[in-house]
Amino acid sequence: MSASIAAAAPVYLDWNATTPVCAEAMAEMLDAMQHAWANPSSTHAPGQAARRVLADARLRVASFLGARPAELVFTSGATEANHLAVLGALASASGRGGIEGMHGLAAAHGAAGRVRRRLVLSAVEHPGLLALADRLAAEGTPVHRVPVDREGRLDLAAARASIDSDVALVSLMGANNETGVCMPLAEVAALAHAQGALLHVDATQLAGKAQLSFAASGADLMSVSAHKIGGPKGVGALLVRKGVAITPLIAGRQERHRRGGTENLPGIAGFAAACERTAATLERDMAAMAALRHRLEQGLAAALPAVRVLGAGANRLPNTSCLSFGTLAAELVLARLERAGIVASSGAACSAGGTQPSHVLLAMGLDEAEARSGVRFSLGRDTSAADIERTVAAATAALAPLLRADANATVAPSAANAAGQANAPSAATAAAAVAEAAAMPA
Ligand SMILES: Cc1ncc(COP(=O)(O)O)c(C=O)c1O
Repeated sequence: MSASIAAAAPVYLDWNATTPVCAEAMAEMLDAMQHAWANPSSTHAPGQAARRVLADARLRVASFLGARPAELVFTSGATEANHLAVLGALASASGRGGIEGMHGLAAAHGAAGRVRRRLVLSAVEHPGLLALADRLAAEGTPVHRVPVDREGRLDLAAARASIDSDVALVSLMGANNETGVCMPLAEVAALAHAQGALLHVDATQLAGKAQLSFAASGADLMSVSAHKIGGPKGVGALLVRKGVAITPLIAGRQERHRRGGTENLPGIAGFAAACERTAATLERDMAAMAALRHRLEQGLAAALPAVRVLGAGANRLPNTSCLSFGTLAAELVLARLERAGIVASSGAACSAGGTQPSHVLLAMGLDEAEARSGVRFSLGRDTSAADIERTVAAATAALAPLLRADANATVAPSAANAAGQANAPSAATAAAAVAEAAAMPA
């Protein structure tokens, strides 16, 4: 690694985690704080001025998402939106049987008013949603996780088998945050609606990286987050299709009684500005990111033959690349990359005792060692060709010696297979990973 590489500003390739706040969002947030600081629920003139800013932002966010303004419920982010969708729809379905008539199926089932309790979701949902599903299961809600294949694609046959007339809600992410693999929303919408169930789509990663229309998606509920598209953190939205009943989590009159609490007006104004900024160059940015991602994957695979693209056979977001560097643990790769001025991430979760394998990669059938090896590079609209060239060069310089050392130290593949240790990292690499991880920030 040369001193000039280390001294330069880091290359940020973690846009799926969060994005820098764009200038347009900052300007609108400042403006809202200076000029629309009143409570939008107040009836006096300053309150009404704030209310107009809120209504204008609602219109702009809804327009970006292909939704009607009345369908939009502002939340504190996608995690809250996911909770509102799942808990709100389940409570509504079990309390009042309120969704039976939604898709005109009550008569067909002859079951109007029947209580639906089951929740179906994919095995690769965001950890916050899976944790909620686990909690619901522990409390007695029947929950079913639909598997994915080795490329991270949803098993549609398994989805079809699991969605029956007892299902209240199917929850499926639009695209996976670790691999970028896109999910078959139209097909699952048809399966859900054929059984009279609702479909919730966690579109947190899809928004801003693909053309997205709530109206055309078939979804009944959709979660989005501002900070993934150049807006501020702590604001997002749940889209609720007209006629869909959800029980609120937070009581109050705001957001048409669907989410109480004074609205985060600066955040919402920033969200609206970020939506417009994203829409202005979306097609161009998507094409540019896809070309740069291709260059990254080709460059790394050419220089480091151990590199494997996870989910390569699936339809993926244009900006996301989940790579395995042979037997090297992700935390070791990330530490070396950061030292060389490249910032990326892994889906594997750090815990006190070490690294937990990524639930997404485990669901894709990778073994535990492989599921600890996935490194996510996620590009954004500011990523340049020079950033990618620098990443390929830095990764090659930092990782080639490690891979060579590991290849020499690792038992021959046939012997490893016989011992059931295929792809297990060598003792030397594992020790280096533990030592470097100890020095890494949480
Ligand atoms: C797919 C997905 N869903 C939900 C979230 C949570 O979003 P927020 O940070 O707005 O709560 C994330 C963020 O990492 C995500 O990638």
